[in-house]
Amino acid sequence: MPRTGRYRSSARFYDLISAEWPVYRAGRVAAIDLMALRPGHHVLDIGCGTGLNFPLLQNRIGPSGSITAVDASAQMLEQARRRAFSAGWTNVRLVEADASALDANVPDMASGFDAVISTYALSLMADWPRALSTMVAVTRPGGRVAVVDMQRPVGRARLWSPLAQLACLLGGSDIDAHPWVPMESALVDVRRRSVRGAHIQIRVGSVPTCTTDACSTGR
Ligand SMILES: C[S@@+](CC[C@H](N)C(=O)[O-])C[C@H]1O[C@@H](n2cnc3c(N)ncnc32)[C@H](O)[C@@H]1O
Repeated sequence: MPRTGRYRSSARFYDLISAEWPVYRAGRVAAIDLMALRPGHHVLDIGCGTGLNFPLLQNRIGPSGSITAVDASAQMLEQARRRAFSAGWTNVRLVEADASALDANVPDMASGFDAVISTYALSLMADWPRALSTMVAVTRPGGRVAVVDMQRPVGRARLWSPLAQLACLLGGSDIDAHPWVPMESALVDVRRRSVRGAHIQIRVGSVPTCTTDACSTGR
């Protein structure tokens, strides 16, 4: 059962209350910079929320590309739909679904995406390993998978830890889930970034193009 209760009632205010500009925007910008997106690419956005990734993705993929955006909350998707409508994007498909139980009904699922992204969403899902496996499975060989999520700040930024924990608690995220960790073994050429005192972790890797041991380990 998706944990989306709080994303029903707060959907209309999410962009205002999510500390996007001072804190969380930096993570999505860093990830999308590393995704090597090109005009015409087809991108899947898992747990898309109100579509805060869309403008950054659109800048890279252009009108010949497409975004398929999945979220379990109809209310968050409604905000995403409004964003797409007011920007005049006709290449955005919104799908209401549990990302940890996706099936072939999702448009483009069978043909494979050029890139898949999930920002601040996997750590909310009870079965995030399954959602992450699906993200890898539906990306074409050589395509990029990007995960942005949260952990406790480290070093001097540990001072901010109570605030970071509160943000995760309010959002329903498990700050200790660390859903980027399995990407290290499932993908090759994994790029790592961290921002905001390491509170925000960014990983972008490529789906192997072959299945031998040498390929899967990235050698
Ligand atoms: C913190 S918001 C992040 C939204 C967006 N990715 C962003 O970067 O702003 C988490 C989103 O994940 C969605 N979500 C939670 N569990 C989900 C699931 N099992 N399947 C699909 N979406 C889910 C919520 O409805 C919510 O919109």
